[in-house]
Amino acid sequence: MFKLDRKLIVSASAVTIAALFTAGCVKSEATAGPAEATYANGKVTIDGGLYYPVVDGKTGPYLVNTQKQSGFTYGRTPTANEIAAWDKDVMPDGTGLPEGSGSVEEGEEIYEAQCVMCHGDFGSGGGGYPALAQGNAYEGQKTLTNQRTTPDKDGPIRVFGTYWPQASTMWWYIQSGMPHPKTKSLSNDETYALTAYMLNLNQMEIDGELVDDDYVLDREKFLKIKMPNEKGFEPNIDGPTALEDVRAYYSVPENFGAQKVKPSERCMTDCQKETAKVATIQNGGISDFLPPISVVRDLPVEEGETVAGKDDYESSCAVCHVDSSMGAPAVGDKAAWEKLKGKGVDAILANAINGFGGMPPRGGTDLSDAKMKDAVDYMINASK
Ligand code: HEC
Ligand code: HEC
Repeated sequence: MFKLDRKLIVSASAVTIAALFTAGCVKSEATAGPAEATYANGKVTIDGGLYYPVVDGKTGPYLVNTQKQSGFTYGRTPTANEIAAWDKDVMPDGTGLPEGSGSVEEGEEIYEAQCVMCHGDFGSGGGGYPALAQGNAYEGQKTLTNQRTTPDKDGPIRVFGTYWPQASTMWWYIQSGMPHPKTKSLSNDETYALTAYMLNLNQMEIDGELVDDDYVLDREKFLKIKMPNEKGFEPNIDGPTALEDVRAYYSVPENFGAQKVKPSERCMTDCQKETAKVATIQNGGISDFLPPISVVRDLPVEEGETVAGKDDYESSCAVCHVDSSMGAPAVGDKAAWEKLKGKGVDAILANAINGFGGMPPRGGTDLSDAKMKDAVDYMINASK
């Protein structure tokens, strides 16, 4: 797998993407990891957090309530397995953190197969999806103190490395919440690998050792992580000058608010200043990528492609379009696509190419216009 050199990031992103697609995009079906893995409806399940097939356009770690009722359907009692799967915390002191290990290299591979379409090359974020690393701008390990979420002019942007005070949050968050449309599908080792890759992207050290491309993370090393913002996340309320410290902290609104307001200027209308743009997935979203996404669109022609657009759809679009949980029109949802076609096929193709609401330009890929057309045609045909 491609080795990471931060100076090469920009020029390398095209190579990585090309490599990703020529490799046919590793499809990671949930692998049977822990011992308690069981089978439901023919699908491998993990940790009792079951992944069910799509039924009526819905899927998730819960079984769809199939009871036919009119009016409201109130769901059902969760199974013991489901409760056990969600009733898991990983605490800063290591409580709840399972044994396991994973390397930066494995993490990068999983990332490219399951995360890059939303979080961008090397965690650059964009299109409303959060950045996970700050690339070269990260130098000096500046942090966002006092839970500010937007940076000042020279400040770091809010990413895992600059913001979160404890690494345990990262491990738990990735396993419980990511990949977004397929939560609870990562094994413990995969989660260690992804965490290692996140640390690598954030140029972090563990016990004085840089988490470089060859690093292998395990439970023991994980517990030695000191987050750069550990001491800066909350104002210090201990110690002899605690009272003064807390007062000083609250006397400066930008310490706890997202935007800079001079104490004398109380804002009552139109308070959302230029500096405090909120990233939304539905409208607008972030348009600047860091590092910039590649503009190279040509990809080698794949051999043995049968149904035009199908493979690209499966490897690059299905992650969001498999159901409507991401706000995307679900493939197979006749009504949704019938409505879209009202705009004209050319218009929706253009939207798919240029980006539209939560739809990242080209779905975050380097697919050519022709390949995008095939993928969109495939989606339309599969939704008739
Ligand atoms: C379909 C889109 C999608 C995919 C795929 C996806 N994510 Fe996310 N991710 C999101 C969204 C949206 C959020 C923000 C969620 C929120 O704030 O409620 C997020 C948040 C995160 C965060 C928290 C960031 C922060 O600093 O608050 C981490 C870490 C993360 N994702 C890691 C991953 C990893 C690792 C993968 C791959 C295994 C992955 N994501 C796959 C959409 C996605
Ligand atoms: C990160 C998630 C994501 C990925 C990956 C993604 N889409 Fe989308 N897509 C969306 C969302 C969300 C919408 C709905 C946008 C809206 O209505 O605001 C959408 C909408 C669309 C539309 C309808 C546009 C319109 O005019 O309403 C098309 C066509 C489309 N996507 C095609 C694709 C293709 C082709 C790919 C793969 C190359 C792809 N998408 C990958 C999230 C995604």
